[in-house]
Amino acid sequence: MSCILLTGGSGYIGSHIASLLAREDKDFVIIDNFINSKKSVIKRLEDTSNKKINFVECDIRNTKKLIKILKEKKISAVIHLAAKKSVEESILNPLEYYDVNVSGTLSLLNAMKTVGVKNLVFSSSATIYGEPEYLPIDEEHPINAINPYGESKIIVENILSDLIKSDKEWSIVSLRYFNPIGAHFCGLLGDDPKNIKSANLLPVIIEVAQGKRECLKIFGNDYSTLDGTGIRDYIHIMDLASAHIKAFDFIKNAKGLYVFNLGTGKGVSVMELINCFEKVSKIKIPKIIVNRRLGDVGSCFANPSKAYELLNWRTKYSLEDMCQTAWNFSKTNKLIK
Ligand code: UD1
Repeated sequence: MSCILLTGGSGYIGSHIASLLAREDKDFVIIDNFINSKKSVIKRLEDTSNKKINFVECDIRNTKKLIKILKEKKISAVIHLAAKKSVEESILNPLEYYDVNVSGTLSLLNAMKTVGVKNLVFSSSATIYGEPEYLPIDEEHPINAINPYGESKIIVENILSDLIKSDKEWSIVSLRYFNPIGAHFCGLLGDDPKNIKSANLLPVIIEVAQGKRECLKIFGNDYSTLDGTGIRDYIHIMDLASAHIKAFDFIKNAKGLYVFNLGTGKGVSVMELINCFEKVSKIKIPKIIVNRRLGDVGSCFANPSKAYELLNWRTKYSLEDMCQTAWNFSKTNKLIK
């Protein structure tokens, strides 16, 4: 049986993918350096899947160790998520971002090349599209990074494109995520970063609901959208995770580099997300309108039809599911900490 290497497998997205791999009885090994995730996630994965989860503590920049793991575990494919992901932090410390996201990926690719593993699913981001030139955004939309985090993802996609030109044996899928939110239905897995405070909308709403923040600042209500607030394509984390399983199945039979948008295709405004959260939690969120946040775009949502056509993947879960599962997780997470 082939074994999958899941880098960054104890993070927000990785842990949800791991739960699906375990459910599907796929053989896999997690590697993580736990820089922004907790070791307790592995135990939680074992509890929710009722299976032993294989993991090795490893930094992706350690090529030698990666080669050893690839050989010993007889890895045949890699799902590569290990990366830094805060836009703000990337502006303050770009070198760190290029080191982890770009050099780290180069280290992984070199290790894979050395061992002859040429199947890869890469975690990219819709942030690489920059200011939308048209909506919905398809995969042909021009690329334009507006911060070092986005730039690091573009550089890796370019490296992958060059790699495929040099060796046609590689099978690579790059998945461009829109806005993943929500949590696992078991209540044990969710968005739980170790060091950085999330500045994303739903985590902030939850902090307000928990009384950790006084009120939610809405960054601008003067965009040319229906209610004036920013529009995004929120996607349930379990839908996002399931796309990785489809992508993994896809690369078994397709050589080359394929990029896919992962979103619902539906734009949701800040006000709509707040209203939905208030409905499912039955908590009123205090809010004020403030100036637009620097670097924010008004509207951004995907055309996900390519993923449907080629991966046979589509989203299943609603905005209510996203709010409900995230809210449930925030409550259990608080209890078991
Ligand atoms: C942010 C990142 C993006 C990253 C994505 C997913 C920035 C500029 N962009 O995108 O690169 O890929 O997260 O992790 O940080 N909002 C408020 N008040 C808040 C927080 C957010 O009004 O306290 C609004 C924003 O203005 C936006 C929407 O909520 O309209 C969503 O924001 P957020 O969750 O941070 O995601 P993005 O801005 O899409």
